[in-house]
Formats: sequence, C-alpha cells, structure tokens
Amino acid sequence: MFITLEGPEGSGKTSHIPPLVEYLREKGYTVFPTREPGGTSIGEQIREVIHDLKNVEMHPRTETLLYQAARAQIVEQVFKPRLQMGEIVISDRYYDSTIAYQGYGHQQDLEQVRSLVKYATGGLVPNLTVLLDVDVEEGLGRKKQNGAEWNRMDAQDIEFYRRVRIGYLEMVKVEPNRWVVVDAGQAWDEVQEELKRLIVEKLK
Ligand code: TMP
Repeated sequence: MFITLEGPEGSGKTSHIPPLVEYLREKGYTVFPTREPGGTSIGEQIREVIHDLKNVEMHPRTETLLYQAARAQIVEQVFKPRLQMGEIVISDRYYDSTIAYQGYGHQQDLEQVRSLVKYATGGLVPNLTVLLDVDVEEGLGRKKQNGAEWNRMDAQDIEFYRRVRIGYLEMVKVEPNRWVVVDAGQAWDEVQEELKRLIVEKLK
C-alpha cells in the first residue's frame, strides 16, 4: 500500500504523518514514512540545492528536472523495495507536487511535465493520495506563524500558490478514485481523525 499526502503550503501535512504512523504501527502494520524531495542521501542533497534561497537564478525547467532526479532515486532505493516487502509507505509529497507546483504553479507545459514524471517514477502510482486542502492565504499565514522551514519554494508570489491549489483540485477531478480531499481548515485533531479513519478504511 502506497499512500501519499499532498497539499499547498501550510496544509499541515508534515505534522500529521508521525502520529498517523504511530497509530498504524500500534495496529500491527509495518509503516515506512518518508518525504519528497529527499528520503535518500542523494535526494536530501538535491533538496538542499532546490530549496537554497541563494539559488534565485534557478530556471523552472532546472527545478523540474532536479525534483525528478531526487524522485527517481527514492522510487528505486526506497519505494519499490519497501512496497515489494509488503510495507505501507507513506510519503509526504510525490509526483503530484511536480504537476501542481512546476506544471500549474510555474506554468510549464503539462504534457511535458507529465511525461518527465512518468520517466522519473517508472510509472509507480500511489494507491491513495490525500489532498490536505486549505485556503491559500490561510495556509501561508499558518506557515509563517509556526516557524516551519522557509525555503526558495516559499518565496513565490500569491498567484503561484493559487494556481497550485487549482492544479490539485483539477487532478482530484480527473482521478477521483485515487484521491481523497480532507478539509485542512478544520481543527488539527479533526483532520488527524479523518486521516486515520480513511486510511484504515482503505487498508481493509
Ligand atoms: P515541504 O517539505 O515543506 O512540503 O516543501 C517542499 C517544497 O517543495 C514545497 O514548496 C513544494 C515543493 N515541491 C515542488 O515544487 N515539486 C515537487 O515535485 C516536490 C516534491 C515538492
């Protein structure tokens, strides 16, 4: 079972994963949490290059390719072997982030982005993708408040994040069987309960 969490800035994705993993482990599942970009030594090094605030000159195509380089590594080194062993892999972001941020956000050609993503993933698609959906202004406000990592991808203009959110919502419409939308504007506990419920349901 391969589960991915997606969402715009400040959706709270990252804070929901550790308690979710603990809950599933208590239920006896073997769960492997990870994140993108990163999750491997090579991927974490690429993450630093992409997110470094110094790299202001980075072109969107460079950015798109770097995300795919990190992704190809995590797919082969982590996702495929763990899934083959029957583990539940939960990833904080996966290729839908590229479609949302580089495709919709940076307005790169969607067909080209999709084919790059397919190349990077070797066609590995999640069984379940949860969109933690939150209003753009609210999400950015939360992110500033909670002192989370502030990186180059957080320095885009507001319209960029609006396009990202629209992109996610369009992807949900195209593949409603893979996606579940959770309203991340609710209280944190309610979001956590909903995540637990829907993942357990899917595992059945
Ligand atoms: P996060 O770890 O705080 O979610 O930060 C990751 C940032 O990287 C976030 O702004 C989204 C961005 N991102 C992309 O733009 N494309 C991608 O393919 C991935 C995985 C992340």
